[in-house]
Amino acid sequence: MEKQGVIKLEGVSKGYGNNLILNEFNLNINKGEFLTIIGSSGCGKTTVLKLINGLLTPDSGKVHVNGEDISVVNQIQLRRKIGYVIQGVGLFPHMNIRKNISYVPNLTKKDDKSKIAAKALKLIKVVGLSEDMLDRYPSELSGGQRQRVGLARALASSPDILLMDEPFGAVDEITRKLLQEEILRIYKELNVTIVFITHDIKEALKLGTRVLVMDKGQIIQVGAPTEIMENPKTDFVRELIGA
Ligand SMILES: Nc1ncnc2c1ncn2[C@@H]1O[C@H](COP(=O)(O)OP(=O)(O)OP(=O)(O)O)[C@@H](O)[C@H]1O
Ligand SMILES: [Mg+2]
Repeated sequence: MEKQGVIKLEGVSKGYGNNLILNEFNLNINKGEFLTIIGSSGCGKTTVLKLINGLLTPDSGKVHVNGEDISVVNQIQLRRKIGYVIQGVGLFPHMNIRKNISYVPNLTKKDDKSKIAAKALKLIKVVGLSEDMLDRYPSELSGGQRQRVGLARALASSPDILLMDEPFGAVDEITRKLLQEEILRIYKELNVTIVFITHDIKEALKLGTRVLVMDKGQIIQVGAPTEIMENPKTDFVRELIGA
């Protein structure tokens, strides 16, 4: 029996105006995978992520999440099941860190106030920050700290899918390494499916259980890190891995 894909894009085309970005794009992501996506700037990576969580709708083709066609499911419910760490962090500047992290739980009201407070406290520690950060505002944090808060906020709705768009860009090498360890720990602990965009090939190969190489809206190669390393399919991939 074919393993049930938790995320499935079938013949998806998407353009902006006359500019076609994805043409009959197909992708199947299995439950529990950590898929890293790498490719040139503007090739359509963010577009793929936004199609998965319904922020964008395909011009044609279908997107399935957890076996459901997302064009017919409630969009708000869908997005609450999917954690999304956006390119450039995107914290709410007028809310302190506690409120940022608790944003979705406060909206859904599935938990009472004390539970939500306990969750914020737990998550700030999960991403390796201290409790006293909760009362600060985003402008009072470093770039790397803000990225950790972005991750904590995405985890707050206990998603089973985590979409991360260059979450560790714009931090120094040391912080990046720490964040990588953190996300691997969270991945193993929470048993989530992760789709992670990066521009750093070392990061893509280190974190991914599968690596997807994209160029101009097309999948050039997708496979396990060792496969990409040992059998780069095209010059583009060879160049990327520096072979
Ligand atoms: N809302 C929009 N309107 C028009 N064009 C857009 C829009 N969003 C994206 N594009 C264009 O679509 C293409 C793909 O964009 P996308 O954001 O998916 O790229 P990306 O692979 O994530 O790039 P980067 O690595 O720079 O983040 C780009 O050429 C971009 O300029
Ligand atoms: Mg992008």
